[in-house]
Parts: sequence; structure tokens; C-alpha cells
Amino acid sequence: MEQFGTSRNVVIVGFMGTGKSTVSRLLAEKLGWDSKDTDEEIELAAGKSIKRIFAEDGEQAFRDLESRVLTEVLSRPNQVVATGGGAALREENRRTMLKGGWVVALTADRRTLVSRVTSAAAAGTRPLLEGDAEERVGALLEARRHAYDFAQATVDTSERTPLELADLLAGWMP
Ligand code: S3P
Repeated sequence: MEQFGTSRNVVIVGFMGTGKSTVSRLLAEKLGWDSKDTDEEIELAAGKSIKRIFAEDGEQAFRDLESRVLTEVLSRPNQVVATGGGAALREENRRTMLKGGWVVALTADRRTLVSRVTSAAAAGTRPLLEGDAEERVGALLEARRHAYDFAQATVDTSERTPLELADLLAGWMP
């Protein structure tokens, strides 16, 4: 159980639009564990949307809250935790994740990501993609090319359904 760190959780990382929240929910259901989404926990803690946190308090305040929420959530066991796409950027957070559980990265090709983040339901919810979403995804993908390399497993979500992904990950769990 070395790979699970000191606490037994599954931590899902990856770029925006890789399906972290959906896959987390399905995997948690399969395991009979709790499902947690750090973006949702951040909104609860701040009492406002991520969009408003960015607009009113700035990205730095959002990142500080994200680190605090991550540490708090991962202090408990038996959860599948979906993290925000930028949570892996801080070394401190990467350490918290590796200590808190088994870290899995979800990936997808650029075309798939753009189509997911510009879907009707997702449009306008991500401050970092404001403006030309396609151009923003391209630039951020480049800047974050190695951001998820620290994960202990990586799976491409482009050609798989969320249910297939949850089954696959359940089978891979150490
Ligand atoms: C962010 C990703 C978002 C959210 C915030 C910032 C990022 O989460 O945390 O808008 O920096 O990649 P999702 O990856 O769930 O969209």
C-alpha cells in the first residue's frame, strides 16, 4: 500500500475538460467511497463562485484557498478527490496529493478538450479560458505540458466514456 501515501484516497489531476469531476463521481460510486471536488469545496468555503473569486479576490487568493482546501479534504480517507486543473502547479500541493493518496492524471487531445470546455454547460465557468477559449487552451496546455507528470498513473480520456474510465481505474488501483 506504499503507493497510497499515508491516507487511502484516489486523487484525480489533469487539465480542464479531462473529465475529472465526472470520473471521480463514478469511481467513488463504484468503490462505495465519498466523492469530493476541490472546486466545489472552494466555492463552499468562499461562499461564491470560482468566477467571482477570480474577479473579486484574484488568482493568488484562489490558489491559496485551493491549497488549504486540498490539505483539509485529504486529511480524511476513502474518498475519490477531483482537483482543479491548476492544483498540480504548486509543489506544496503535489506533495499533499502524493501523501494523501494514489494520484491519477487524466489527459485528452487538444480538440477534445476544446470541445468539452466550450460546451453549453461549461461555457463561461472557467475564468482562465475567458476570451478565445481555443487559443487559451492551446497556450495553457503548452505552459502546463509537464504539470501532471508527477502522477502515479495516466490515462487518456479522449476515446473512452466516463464509465469505462472509472472501471479501468478501479482495476488499476494499487
Ligand atoms: C483551473 C481549473 C478549474 C478551476 C479554476 C482554475 C486551472 O478546475 O479550478 O477555474 O487553473 O486549470 P477544472 O480543472 O475542474 O476545470
